[in-house]
Amino acid sequence: MKKVSLNVNGVRRQFIVQPDYVLLDLLRKDLCLTGTKQSCDRKGQCGACTVIVNGKAVRSCLTKVADLDGAEVISIEGLGKPQNPHPIQEAFVLAGAVQCGFCTPGMIMAAKALLDENENPTADDIKKALRRNLCRCTGYKKIIEAIQLAGRFLRGELTPNQVRPDPNQGLIGVSHPRPSAMIKACGVAEFTADVRVPGATELAVVHSPYAHALVKSIDTSEAQKMPGVIGVMTAKDVKGTNRLKYIVSDRPILCDTKVRFIGDPVAAVLAETREQAVAAAEAVKVEYELLPVMMTPEEALAEGAPQIHPDRPNLCYSQPQVRGDAEAALAQSAAVVESDFSTQTNHQAALEPEACVAYLEQENGDLPTLVVIGRSINIHYHMSMLQDAVGYENMRYEEAYSGGQFGIKIDITSEGLAAAAALHFQRPIRYIPSLKESMWLTSKRHAFDMKVRLGADAQGKLMAYAIDFTVNNGAYHSNGNVIVNRAIQMLSGSYYIPTIKAMSRLVYTNTTWGAAARGAGPPQVTYALESAVDMLAEKMGIDALEFRLMNLLKPGQPRSTGRVVEQWPLPELIEAIRPHYDRARNDAAEFNRKDGVRKRGVGLGIGSFGIGGPGDTATVAVELDPDGGLTVFAAAADPGEGNDSMLTQIAAHLMDLPMEKIRLVTRDTERTTATGPAAGSRITYMVGRAMVDAIDKLKAAMVEGNAASHEQLRAIGRPIRYIGTKKNEDAGPLDPQTGQGPSFESQVHAVQLAEVEVNTANGEVRVNKMTTAVDAGRVINPKNLEGQLEGGMDMGVGFALREKYVEGQTKDWVSFKFPTIGHSFEMETIIRETPRIKGPLGATGVGEMTMVPTAPAVMNAIANACGARVRHLPATPDKVLAALAEVSPLGIPGGIISNGVKG
Ligand code: FES
Ligand code: FES
Repeated sequence: MKKVSLNVNGVRRQFIVQPDYVLLDLLRKDLCLTGTKQSCDRKGQCGACTVIVNGKAVRSCLTKVADLDGAEVISIEGLGKPQNPHPIQEAFVLAGAVQCGFCTPGMIMAAKALLDENENPTADDIKKALRRNLCRCTGYKKIIEAIQLAGRFLRGELTPNQVRPDPNQGLIGVSHPRPSAMIKACGVAEFTADVRVPGATELAVVHSPYAHALVKSIDTSEAQKMPGVIGVMTAKDVKGTNRLKYIVSDRPILCDTKVRFIGDPVAAVLAETREQAVAAAEAVKVEYELLPVMMTPEEALAEGAPQIHPDRPNLCYSQPQVRGDAEAALAQSAAVVESDFSTQTNHQAALEPEACVAYLEQENGDLPTLVVIGRSINIHYHMSMLQDAVGYENMRYEEAYSGGQFGIKIDITSEGLAAAAALHFQRPIRYIPSLKESMWLTSKRHAFDMKVRLGADAQGKLMAYAIDFTVNNGAYHSNGNVIVNRAIQMLSGSYYIPTIKAMSRLVYTNTTWGAAARGAGPPQVTYALESAVDMLAEKMGIDALEFRLMNLLKPGQPRSTGRVVEQWPLPELIEAIRPHYDRARNDAAEFNRKDGVRKRGVGLGIGSFGIGGPGDTATVAVELDPDGGLTVFAAAADPGEGNDSMLTQIAAHLMDLPMEKIRLVTRDTERTTATGPAAGSRITYMVGRAMVDAIDKLKAAMVEGNAASHEQLRAIGRPIRYIGTKKNEDAGPLDPQTGQGPSFESQVHAVQLAEVEVNTANGEVRVNKMTTAVDAGRVINPKNLEGQLEGGMDMGVGFALREKYVEGQTKDWVSFKFPTIGHSFEMETIIRETPRIKGPLGATGVGEMTMVPTAPAVMNAIANACGARVRHLPATPDKVLAALAEVSPLGIPGGIISNGVKG
């Protein structure tokens, strides 16, 4: 032990610590300064734990307290408070740099250390200083802008009040700061692991090391005897169905007879401390009998392959789509391209680990309420899953602030473990899994294998599209059929294609289970379609932009589902991107004339993303408050998209109230209406519209009753609470034979331009710029909209070029190849606003839009640069070189043709 004295946020303190005790634990555990976060497994990979020690930014997870005698430590809490924030905190809020906010304290501390040395940093200075700080939400653009804005505040060139939008300028179409942004910037927003439960015990889980095996026995005797251990829980201790049923009842909280992928939970140990629980979990002995492993759909569909689930075949879902006679149309086409494409299994990479807290709350001798705190995006649905799984009805789910989502929380895992443990042990439970474990516990983006054929007539009009795709669903179903259906519903993209022939298959394998991931299906099929479109345009000698323009769907024409669209404002977006396209092509051609090894290219990708699926519904309640304010009750999760801004700004606008008089109750099952998941970009369109309906009813009652206030409504016997709904009447499943049928009610559209540079010597690709032209209807908050577009482009480039989840190998942010600020690129957004007929004030959603066409735009740009057509994502250097070798038999780089200019 060593005694050290240090000054933390201006207060001198003494501590007696073990030699390896780290500053992160001192801050979070001993001083309850939970603004400092942890994302990686203390490997120095995430920067979320950054604080300032003696004027330098350090990662507190790597900083030993024993080495800090006499040090001055500043954590985020020492910088400013929401009532009195530091200029850097103000700048992050005003620049729109705070989305989920999990990375924000670390980013701000790194920025503070930089600005203390250099009040006027360039973008390169910022990239260097923040090279170890990860963000998944923003694409880093607004973080760089925030730091430069903070520099202007600190240099006295501007004040925050000069930048802050004036509410008198209006509430719609104005970038008012998010309601939650400042508490996140000041580190006082409580994420799940920050929730303090005095006396809570810690859970650790035993995971299967095998991909497919029978569980023969579990020996807990050694573990039970270890220090601090309270007990060990196995499947027999879970009193309900022990199945977390999203759609199909196939996924156990704890495996009973069989494990189906590496990481499947088998047992859980409860102990006084996390370290004790983890040590005891390692002492649990599980005897397995190994079974044949099927990692790919081909293996799982092979003749004689064993069934992964005894009651359902490995081919667990299939949906064709047929419009007209695509084979005949392909035969008659003047030009046809045919190709295979595949996309990888990928991790959504929300920065926050899969933390969960569960405890029993008892008042007055009543039946205890099982309270679960986590980061669900669909608290009512997930609570009902938990009730069945653990066999306990009296439950409440509370959503903490959430460090990113991107589809990962469409389904739940850690909540099942914590809830079952709270009931079994009758103790308050904290389950804070490591990053490695969080990767095991969560769903992944499905890998798609696709074969496509696309044909056009002699003028370049699309005639037919055939696609056959197989989806690796992993070990459990989750919402796999929904992902397949979304891919089928959007597979004709933005185009009118008169004939379609599609077949899809969803296949169980012994890999991590797949579920939602930003875009969820359309990014995969759009990559195939948009690549094929470019290939066909090139084959026909037609410019890629003109080819797309001539084939766009028009209002009154059907998508591949047969549903006719009412609005389709894509030509305007193509025209908006045209000058950028022309400029970029000229720049690339100019560059390519000079450089022999590096080649620049320009690529397009377009997408039309459906929002408000068949039969989708949302319900919102509003209440007029005694002080004239309005409370909105809706379980509309906000894991970082800005749903709190959207609800607040629309409600304040409609009620003619200041934003601070709009109160949102969105985070617990007891007080909210069910509104469905914060997924599929649906919250603005569905929940926003339901809230407009509720407010319309309130206002109508006030007009009819000639009542201007809460008291007057009560005095005339009218309710103060009104329920609004939004429902997509086009409901029901697709026809199982033809794939024709109900579809999305609204669409968001994007045309995307990628500018890349390919090093033809080593295959490395750098994205220099992405430009997106987007029409998401009426814009409620421009900075929030841009933030979604920028974050989507950053994620899309990661998907295109580097990210991949490899079973058994991907265990941290380095092996995942998390995009850093060093990978960030210039981004430009062009916004058009065609009011949506049925959207709230004409708005629709946007959260997933730029994720959809980014990968094909990048792949098309690579092909444009050097002729290399990469057909299997991600386009790592080895694949680029292999694709180059196919087109450059004379050797690389001398023989390649780029933009018509020989290299
Ligand atoms: S927790 Fe310190 S760098 Fe990740
Ligand atoms: S705002 Fe950076 S990770 Fe969410």
